[in-house]
Amino acid sequence: MSNHGEGGREVIRLEGLEKVYQSGGDVEVRAVKGVSLRVCEGEFVAVMGASGSGKSTLMNMIGCLDRPTRGKYYLDGEEVGGKSKSELSRVRNQRLGFVFQGFNLLSRTSALENVELPMLYAAHSPGRSELRRRSLAALERVGLAGRAGHHPNQMSGGQQQRVAIARALVNEPSLLLADEPTGNLDTRTSLEIMKIFQELNDAGMTILMVTHEPDIALYCRRKIVMRDGVVVSDEPVEVRLSAAEELRKWGEGDAVAAGESAGRSDVAGVGEGGAQ
Ligand SMILES: Nc1ncnc2c1ncn2[C@@H]1O[C@H](COP(=O)(O)OP(=O)(O)O)[C@@H](O)[C@H]1O
Ligand SMILES: [Mg+2]
Repeated sequence: MSNHGEGGREVIRLEGLEKVYQSGGDVEVRAVKGVSLRVCEGEFVAVMGASGSGKSTLMNMIGCLDRPTRGKYYLDGEEVGGKSKSELSRVRNQRLGFVFQGFNLLSRTSALENVELPMLYAAHSPGRSELRRRSLAALERVGLAGRAGHHPNQMSGGQQQRVAIARALVNEPSLLLADEPTGNLDTRTSLEIMKIFQELNDAGMTILMVTHEPDIALYCRRKIVMRDGVVVSDEPVEVRLSAAEELRKWGEGDAVAAGESAGRSDVAGVGEGGAQ
């Protein structure tokens, strides 16, 4: 349990990272104002802070969805902050996995196809049969092996988010980025998502997760707080909770876990998170 920080291989290093938005006319918004940060392999970091503090802006730069205005960003030791858009999209496809608050699934496409889709169009696509094997393995990893053929609009919000996690895993990323992944989910379902993240992290996955819920941050190993575009605190989570244990207290993960591994389809309600 001592995966925090020092010692491991460096996955993220930020040096004085800044983002200035030019929003209409001459108005500048300094959304991120000089963040320096190091995240090593096997860490599970919660990024917290009030709305507007710069969390998503920081995540978008780390996720290579947006480029920093100033400062340096090293991913797996390679400077990526200055890369071109096409180079950044290659980095995203090969090394990063994303999970969003709104799931961002295609609602009339099967879970399996949703998982395959990002890799299907990637320059380094592993080929159909290998892709299918990996996608099924990813669905299995999130407890949805029996649901590969279901469409998101036939699934609960928690199940949709698990499909999204499987999709994020299929390219075997070195870093998993999640922006408010439990923001649309009830407490119990949020715990199920945290359980999956903890299992992935225990298996070595590095995870960076934005959340505004202090309860949810307790499942991480390290907690960073942002305010007005800077990091104002950065400390280990001293008493880390186990989502599996908390779920047991909720009266076993019975219906959901047992039902799904048996491939049942009548367990969860439809569309609590709203299929698109
Ligand atoms: N595309 C944009 N253009 C202009 N300003 C933006 C843009 N995105 C975010 N901002 C501003 O940057 C600041 C930080 O926003 P954001 O990173 O979304 O914060 P958080 O995710 O913590 O709520 C806010 O003041 C927000 O209004
Ligand atoms: Mg945000």
